[in-house]
Amino acid sequence: MADALGSRWARAGHEVFVGGRNSGRAAALAQRIGAVGFGELGAAAEHGTDAVLLALPHPVAAEAIAALEVPLRGRVLIDCTNPVGPGFALLTADGPSAARRIASAAPAAHVVKAFNLCHEDVWRLTPPVFAGRPLAVPLCGDDEHALSVVRQLVRDLGCEPLNAGNLDRAALLEATAALLIGLWVGEGADAQAIAPPREFAGGGRA
Ligand SMILES: NC(=O)c1ccc[n+]([C@@H]2O[C@H](COP(=O)([O-])OP(=O)(O)OC[C@H]3O[C@@H](n4cnc5c(N)ncnc54)[C@H](OP(=O)(O)O)[C@@H]3O)[C@@H](O)[C@H]2O)c1
Repeated sequence: MADALGSRWARAGHEVFVGGRNSGRAAALAQRIGAVGFGELGAAAEHGTDAVLLALPHPVAAEAIAALEVPLRGRVLIDCTNPVGPGFALLTADGPSAARRIASAAPAAHVVKAFNLCHEDVWRLTPPVFAGRPLAVPLCGDDEHALSVVRQLVRDLGCEPLNAGNLDRAALLEATAALLIGLWVGEGADAQAIAPPREFAGGGRA
């Protein structure tokens, strides 16, 4: 996800900085996507002014973020993680969402849940437009400035941002990912077909 989204944002003119625990892999990614630099996770958390993308596996994300709590104070933190396990199970079903756990680990960061519903290859498309319709990207967050920053990053991909509510509703985006991945990967189904056109959302009698 860091590779796919980072390369698109770098091409859109953003200064992208790569953070990773392994400097060799971080350097290779930085070179591949045209980043301005690379370093440890803490350096990435401190870099720049706009936003930090958290692209770690769910099981390690909250602990990694807790270690970055100080540099993340006041930062816009984009959470694209999916707490989806074997059998397409939602790993957070009995507790707080992944986004809420991340927000608790860095309480002074402004967390926005985004980009979790599509495979990384979708974000590489220039642009992600299907049947003439730009991909809509739902965002959940509590801070209006953070949401406005991420809305622009969505538009920089050629996508349309959608307001999906506050951070509590990120649990729904995570459950939606588990549902979609289960349909796509588990059933081989056309999961996009599950929603009717908007004019039928209220029953079609309008
Ligand atoms: N891939 C997709 O299509 C997709 C789509 C939507 C959402 N997501 C979500 O996005 C997140 C990232 O997915 P991804 O596919 O980009 O994963 P990935 O390619 O496996 O990359 C994960 C990164 O996390 C790092 N990492 C793993 N454990 C770590 C730890 N304990 N401390 C520090 N860094 C650690 C890895 O570093 P090393 O290089 O050092 O191993 C690697 O750079 C996941 O939560 C996933 O559910 C993925």
